[in-house]
Amino acid sequence: MSFNKLIKKYKKKKIKIGIVGIGYVGLKLLLQFAKNKVQVLGFDNNLEKLNMLNKRISPISYIKNSEIKKTSNYSSYNNDYSKLKECDAIILCLPTPLKNKKPDLSHIINTLKKIKKYFKKNQLLVLESTTYPGTTEEKIKPFLDKKFLIGKNFFLGYSPERENPGDNSFAFKNIPKICSGYSTKCTKLCLILYQMIVDKTVAAKNIKEAEFSKLIENIYRSVNISMVNEMKMISHKLNIDINNVLNLANTKPFGFTKFEPGPGIGGHCIPIDPYYLYWKAKQVNIDAKFIKLAGQTNEDTTNWVINNFFKILTKEKKIAKKTKLLILGLAYKKNIEDTRESASKKIIINLHGKLKKIDVSEPYIKMQNSVVSEDSIFLNKYKINNILITKNIIQKYDVVMILSDHDCFDYNLIKKESKILIDTRNRIERKNRFYKL
Ligand SMILES: NC(=O)c1ccc[n+]([C@@H]2O[C@H](COP(=O)([O-])OP(=O)(O)OC[C@H]3O[C@@H](n4cnc5c(N)ncnc54)[C@H](O)[C@@H]3O)[C@@H](O)[C@H]2O)c1
Repeated sequence: MSFNKLIKKYKKKKIKIGIVGIGYVGLKLLLQFAKNKVQVLGFDNNLEKLNMLNKRISPISYIKNSEIKKTSNYSSYNNDYSKLKECDAIILCLPTPLKNKKPDLSHIINTLKKIKKYFKKNQLLVLESTTYPGTTEEKIKPFLDKKFLIGKNFFLGYSPERENPGDNSFAFKNIPKICSGYSTKCTKLCLILYQMIVDKTVAAKNIKEAEFSKLIENIYRSVNISMVNEMKMISHKLNIDINNVLNLANTKPFGFTKFEPGPGIGGHCIPIDPYYLYWKAKQVNIDAKFIKLAGQTNEDTTNWVINNFFKILTKEKKIAKKTKLLILGLAYKKNIEDTRESASKKIIINLHGKLKKIDVSEPYIKMQNSVVSEDSIFLNKYKINNILITKNIIQKYDVVMILSDHDCFDYNLIKKESKILIDTRNRIERKNRFYKL
């Protein structure tokens, strides 16, 4: 097929897309294509997740079952990778974690080993996972080189995801999508693919710049969050409320962007992605000090919360071994169920065995999804109950600590019933026995 014919096929949306890895990023993407009447196949190795999706049950709390149902004419979910042969475009949305603080591309590499036999001429392969500059060309292209002429009879691209889980203030189609390709033709096809689902696509000059841009976005967040967390630790000593300070600074109409302090960073992005660039910088003999310092400061913030928790116990004349603590929120941020790398988990691990009892209230874990089972295991490992907050429950605890300020918590009840309340999310006003950390 000529390239022009291929373009026409894409423009008419007469294509089939395969998305490999239907997690937070992949599923959202899949639904966008399906909503726009493009046939899309979702592939995953998590059978529990596939089962749920095939029963039209959403595995993610902020994606409604109705969204899965509504798009069912254009979507299907399976682990039969031979169906990738039917696809015109294949998008990889696989995890890119760290192993010993170094990039772990095993999910991508192992998947490519498994699926490369299904690649065929004129397909477009796009990586969406966050990774260091050079990955697509150095790690993915070699899988294609023997069989294809990239840019001529096979197309390769990179397009980073900008998902902000749990935040519905930006509709998917309103978030500009960066597209890049190995050649001009690759970039063109990548742009046309994403123009089906977003209002604005932005062409990067090359793949490495697109890969780097995603890391800069996350490093920017990591550095700024760690900076406000450091400011919080200073202002706390000075008996100044950091949140009031930030609100004042935020009245400046230029040159200042407000970041929220908290108990420490979490999730699959901010604690992990910066180290991808840190590692890459090391390869070219650069010690990326900002990245390291931000990561360290954010870890220090969680330890600072723990140390201050004990200081508050002492001030309140409480003996740790006799203290019953209720933690509000296990997720790394509000209104989602994602507990990966969460400060709550780190705090629970640290405090375990030092108090009489620790329970947690994480309403999102009640929701059926694949993360649930892992979290139940996590909680059970530390013999912690997941408590539903209702009347007369909170007063059974000596201390309540807000770590993820889900909107669904009844803050009036929490304020009314807490004996000692510690807030790390600026959700309550400071007063007698109500502390802000
Ligand atoms: N979560 C976010 O907010 C976010 C935002 C932007 C970018 N990203 C990046 O996107 C990528 C994916 O992140 P995510 O949060 O969607 O991860 P996730 O863990 O939610 O989803 C990954 C999916 O891939 C599946 N999977 C893993 N190995 C597989 C394999 N070998 N074959 C098939 N399926 C496999 C998992 O079962 C899971 O469903 C990462 O690189 C991440 O850094 C994430």
